[in-house]
Amino acid sequence: MAAPIRHFLQFADLTRDEIEHVFARSSIIKDRFKRYEFYQPLRDRTLAMVFEKASTRTRVSFEAGMYQLGGSVIHITTGDSQLGRSEPIEDTARVISRMVDIVMIRTYEHTKIERFAAHSRVPVINGLTNEYHPCQILADIFTFIEQRGSIAGRTVAWIGDANNMAYTWLQAARLLGFTMQVSTPPAYPLDAKLAPPGPHLKVFDSPLDAARGADLVTTDVWTSMGFEAENATRLAAFEDWCVDAEIMQAARPDALFMHCLPAHRGEEVTADVIDGPQSAVWDEAENRLHVQKALMEYLLLGRAIS
Ligand code: CP
Ligand code: NVA
Repeated sequence: MAAPIRHFLQFADLTRDEIEHVFARSSIIKDRFKRYEFYQPLRDRTLAMVFEKASTRTRVSFEAGMYQLGGSVIHITTGDSQLGRSEPIEDTARVISRMVDIVMIRTYEHTKIERFAAHSRVPVINGLTNEYHPCQILADIFTFIEQRGSIAGRTVAWIGDANNMAYTWLQAARLLGFTMQVSTPPAYPLDAKLAPPGPHLKVFDSPLDAARGADLVTTDVWTSMGFEAENATRLAAFEDWCVDAEIMQAARPDALFMHCLPAHRGEEVTADVIDGPQSAVWDEAENRLHVQKALMEYLLLGRAIS
């Protein structure tokens, strides 16, 4: 009997052991890439990328990554496909997954990607939904490990919106054994369904308190894609949740700063922090390429690779 198809819709879809395998492979794949070493285990494989929201990093990293691994890529959007003309997501999944080997989707409600995956014959990867952004957190934790060692037992401060990035960080904290210190404005609390309580989660009223003693301070835009109508209200509500030098000083002296990008300097982070010596944002962005190559390798070939 064929092995069941594995999807990566949420961070917790992989076990801790599998995440550690993907990180180990990411290091090897990154090292080979830096040495211009030919590594094409996905020759003849095709990735379909479905974008219902805008992207720079996700598109370029998946597209470049698949070509580098020897495969090819098809890029479709809502506007240039029948998705924009109300073809059901289930029918789209049935059709696309008979033609390609793996699918990446960026969409709105998480239920939509779950419906796609339920009707797909091939692995489906979440390239961002309203609720989760697991590929970004893979890259961020890989970046932390590269620069600071194991993340187990460490403290990560989340300052800002209770959004897809925050909920994915929280899943990772539970799975990998680190603590999240979270501060959001009072009108934008964590949704308990997406962020169940546990020893991995500490909530603070003040962003400064959340940052105290953190090994990593991280934030994201105040208004995520799909919520643009709330932008003016959010700008006012989030004013005190800007990661600035004072917040970084409350963290450990060797704390890193991370942001998935794109960033708005002067809103969720000041220019001196994001462009300063503690910022790891460009490494995070680059590591999207390496971790996603390792992820596609794992979902398509398992561990039978070298
Ligand atoms: N961080 C991230 O996913 O960036 P894009 O929206 O540019 O893909
Ligand atoms: N939270 C942001 C992340 C963008 C990469 C959004 O969903 O728009």
